[in-house]
Amino acid sequence: MTRVITYGTFDLFHEGHYRLLKRAKELGDYLIVGVTTEKYDMERGKLNVVDSLMTRIENVKKSGFADEVIIEEAVGQKISDVQKYHIDIFAIGSDWMGAFDYISDYCKVVYLERTKNISSTMLREQNRHIQKVGIIGTGRIANRFVPESKQVSGIDVQRVYNPNRDSAEHFAKIWEIDFSTDLELFLKGIDSVYVASPHQTHYDYVKFALEHGKHVLCEKPMVLKKNQSEELFDYARQKNLVLFEGIKTAYCPGFEKLLGIACSGIIGNIHYIDACFTKLEDKNKRELTDMACGGSLTELGSYCLLPIIKLFGNKYEGVRFESIHDNKGLDVFTKVSFRYPKGIATATCGLGVKSEGRLLIAGTKGYIVASAPWWKTTYFEVHYENASQVDKYSERFFGDGLRYEIRDFLNMINGDDKSVFKLTRSESIAMAEIMEKFLEQEKRMDNT
Ligand code: CTP
Repeated sequence: MTRVITYGTFDLFHEGHYRLLKRAKELGDYLIVGVTTEKYDMERGKLNVVDSLMTRIENVKKSGFADEVIIEEAVGQKISDVQKYHIDIFAIGSDWMGAFDYISDYCKVVYLERTKNISSTMLREQNRHIQKVGIIGTGRIANRFVPESKQVSGIDVQRVYNPNRDSAEHFAKIWEIDFSTDLELFLKGIDSVYVASPHQTHYDYVKFALEHGKHVLCEKPMVLKKNQSEELFDYARQKNLVLFEGIKTAYCPGFEKLLGIACSGIIGNIHYIDACFTKLEDKNKRELTDMACGGSLTELGSYCLLPIIKLFGNKYEGVRFESIHDNKGLDVFTKVSFRYPKGIATATCGLGVKSEGRLLIAGTKGYIVASAPWWKTTYFEVHYENASQVDKYSERFFGDGLRYEIRDFLNMINGDDKSVFKLTRSESIAMAEIMEKFLEQEKRMDNT
């Protein structure tokens, strides 16, 4: 009996899948089909699979060609499956030509010609309205957004806005998109806006975009005043639009896992959180020259405040700021200390002082520690009283990480609000309020 194995995601089961399974079955007598798990697809950067694992398995079974269905959940599983299931032939579509030659040491490898003009990606694009996105701003982060958006299906960056024509034109040329220096014209035909301009311009741009019926993804910190944050969220809700603050850590799978472990009770009751992020910045950059909104807390504070607000909430009893300033009076290092009814927390940010970037969450049974860059969480450890017991967790993080927030933003627009909890309206507002308190103490409020 000749035993054949093949693998795939089989999302939105289509003719190409059917024909592949048919031919794979014809290669032998018994066909095993490996269907990828959601977690595995996530880990390899396939973020927009529509069908659940159960649906995909059902569809493979319905084709009538699979004698057995197994799940594929890890890299490197194929070779052990080939041995475990006594496989004679490994079959896969010709889009993978050459990629699985290494398996020929264990069994015969056959690449079957791929069916033309059909793929899950194509069907996903057809089924979904493509969000036409415009970018406000042409800085570093805006430059990261375009390539990251290409990793998520259902989005097409079409235009960029900058009041400065040269900057807009230059950016548009690099990314092969349109540009505009007129805000009204910029918004024409666009469904959503990504605001990546300097902090103090966010409020006006977000408001303008919402007024024109556009969904908005705004870079952090969205605004630096509590009432502005409340107003924008209220307005978006009233107009049935999605307003989303882009703190990338909040949407990163590793950080989600870390929060899950922290809340699971494994380290007992949490009483202390210490989050630190420092990045030595060039003195001539906007971060250290913008006297109204620059400085370390406004620049990096969103990251460090995030785990504190997520785990301890916004009902702190007291908050205190201590800063070191440069000769212009801008904070180059700031430590925020919170007192909560049952805990204390510190958020430390630096643009002109380097320190150990670390997230520490301490509880009654143990602590979680993640080192820099914990804001793009890929690895963390859980330690206990018994020093030899250490649980290690890791998670993949692709590219610059913006793709995760873009995916969640699109999901929310498309009516799937599963990701709302990753950064709630009240958490965003709480962070704006903390920034406002800080700027009040710094006596910078009039300018923001
Ligand atoms: N396949 C095929 N012909 C197609 C599409 C897929 O023969 N037109 C094959 C693939 O080569 C693979 C199997 O079907 O062996 C499962 O592929 P999968 O990646 O699930 O499907 P795609 O349509 O290629 O998915 P995507 O667009 O998400 O990459």
